[in-house]
Amino acid sequence: VNGKTAKASREVKHAAVLGAGIMGGGIAFQSALKGTPIVMKDINDKALDLGMNEASKLLSKRVSKDKMDAAKMGKVLSSIRPTLSYEDFKDIDVIVEAVVENPKIKQSVLAETEGKVDGAIMASNTSTISINRLAEALKKPENFAGMHFFNPVHMMPLVEVIRGEKTSDETVATLVNYAQKMGKNPVVVNDCPGFLVNRVLFPYFAGFGMLVRDGADFQQVDKVMQKFGWPMGPAYLLDVVGIDTGVHAAEVMAEGFPDRMKHDFKDPTEIMFENERYGQKNGIGFYKYEEDKKGKPK
Ligand code: 3HC
Repeated sequence: VNGKTAKASREVKHAAVLGAGIMGGGIAFQSALKGTPIVMKDINDKALDLGMNEASKLLSKRVSKDKMDAAKMGKVLSSIRPTLSYEDFKDIDVIVEAVVENPKIKQSVLAETEGKVDGAIMASNTSTISINRLAEALKKPENFAGMHFFNPVHMMPLVEVIRGEKTSDETVATLVNYAQKMGKNPVVVNDCPGFLVNRVLFPYFAGFGMLVRDGADFQQVDKVMQKFGWPMGPAYLLDVVGIDTGVHAAEVMAEGFPDRMKHDFKDPTEIMFENERYGQKNGIGFYKYEEDKKGKPK
């Protein structure tokens, strides 16, 4: 983003996130922590409670480690407003959509939201779905771009800001500035399925699937990849990302890049999914997780 586009940026005073899952909850936490109040919308109270609990746990951990005092914790928590209604979307500058990784569902949620707000900048936290494809559902595609966070949101510094064909410079600059305000390192990338990171990551997951099909032990693969220097191996990383998200995203990638991603065998991640082993989010994926001990498989 050059000086010209940076000047065109809007100030983000109030944000909103659609979806209170792992990503939506993480985005809400990070935004509130860094001083931008955020409305978190989902379709039922149970989902909102889970998102708020996650934020509250992350904050309590900071307090117990003396990295934050209880008053600040209260202030951060109160700047995340859970809601079931668009009525709380007044004066919102940026809305980040973080619902399930399904093109039709995302398009319908984005179109519905656009109809309720007037001229807010909208972004999708999609992992893989083309921004141009999602923009087809919108009346003002110039106000829309991708804003792709990585899991766990509070730990991972990178955010991809994805410029669609019709995205305006103002939208790109505003999302770059918002990401920086959240303490992240944004990178602006062009649109295609998977953008930059997942175009590299998903063929790697596919390679891992083939290795397991050919008889490799997934735990050994993880150990070797850690020795190679990566913070976690592919099976463990899929558990962190969410097995369901991994499977949905792999489908979008296979549609976009059939020569690289289509396969005629059942991938181990697909087997986990069929057995409702969704990873850290439900305590079991490739590995089992103790309650509240994320990142430490048994
Ligand atoms: N969820 C939440 N918190 C986690 C976590 C998880 N999965 N894993 C670790 N943490 C927390 C720990 O609780 C700890 O918190 P604390 O400092 O408050 O006590 C902190 O992170 C550090 O944990 P560790 O001491 O275990 O430190 P590590 O050195 O292992 O770092 C990590 C943790 C940063 C998560 C590191 O392992 C890492 O970088 N892993 C790779 C993650 C990655 O690649 N993410 C991208 C996934 S792809 C994606 O999201 C895109 C999507 O579109 C598919």
